[in-house]
Amino acid sequence: MKKIGVFTSGGDAPGMNACIRAVVRTGIHHGLEVVGIVKGYQGILDKNFIPMTARSVSNIIQQGGTILKSARCADFRTKKGRKQAYENLKAEGIEGIVAIGGDGTFTGAEVFMKEYPDINFVGCPGTIDNDLYGTDFTIGYDTAINTAMDAIDKIKDTANADARLFFIEVMGRDVGFIALRSGIAAGAEAVLIPESKTDIKELVKTIQAHYDRKKSSVIVIVAEGDEMGGAVKVAKKVSKKFTDLPTRVTILGHVQRGGSPTAAERVNASWMGLEAVKALINGQRGVMIGVVNNQVVHTPFERAIKYHRYLSPTLLEMVKILA
Ligand code: F6P
Repeated sequence: MKKIGVFTSGGDAPGMNACIRAVVRTGIHHGLEVVGIVKGYQGILDKNFIPMTARSVSNIIQQGGTILKSARCADFRTKKGRKQAYENLKAEGIEGIVAIGGDGTFTGAEVFMKEYPDINFVGCPGTIDNDLYGTDFTIGYDTAINTAMDAIDKIKDTANADARLFFIEVMGRDVGFIALRSGIAAGAEAVLIPESKTDIKELVKTIQAHYDRKKSSVIVIVAEGDEMGGAVKVAKKVSKKFTDLPTRVTILGHVQRGGSPTAAERVNASWMGLEAVKALINGQRGVMIGVVNNQVVHTPFERAIKYHRYLSPTLLEMVKILA
């Protein structure tokens, strides 16, 4: 293998730049040419290729976002689009690609590799949601929970000044990892997540019990994907039972997708990027690099796409006992 490409695709996440930097520098270290592909699969179709040097990735390890940008690409879902992508990669001499993204990114790579077996893809898990099977953490997750925790801490400051009922919505379309971890870290009174059924009557009881214990304010974290429909809807239902208490809703939104990555994020994203290049050099294809129990694990794309990570019920129990 002489030349590899690297791109970021799907939802951007803090730490992606650290991963890109590691891919570029590990590739160069092993004598490879490395090309940055701008805007994921769309960049392959548009021949948006940038030759990368060690200096191209200077000073980016601490930056959020992704210097290679990200995009959704409808054309790559068609046979015609993938044929064009293959021709563009061959013309550029790219033999292997490190794809940093989520399950949508890996699904595209899997379909492409079945049609064109001479191009190898290796994946690095990039999403703040932490919902990929085959790794203990995805790139972006640690920063996102710290961002959410920091915001909840700030809301707690004002919450403690005057009795009110707070609902804070965090990201997590299908999973409650961000909600649960940030909620525990910030000492929230209740956390609602898609993985467990939300019972409004129970929630009202929990909130009441906290006020009965003379808490000055109560904070409920709601994952955006909770089946009850997010913080606004939950607040509307619950506030009917607490008519003498002002209710406040905060939706943290995309603030969780940005920001300088945490130290753990930078190290783990760098580790995954380095391992991805090593995997390509060793002739591996169609695997996602993960870290499980501090060991590097290669998970075939089809498993990373098919299976889901499950939250430990102990974490939910922790919220109930420790709040
Ligand atoms: O990256 C996943 C995610 O963070 C989800 O939790 C959220 O619903 C989604 O991205 C929103 O992303 P966008 O608005 O960019 O589509």
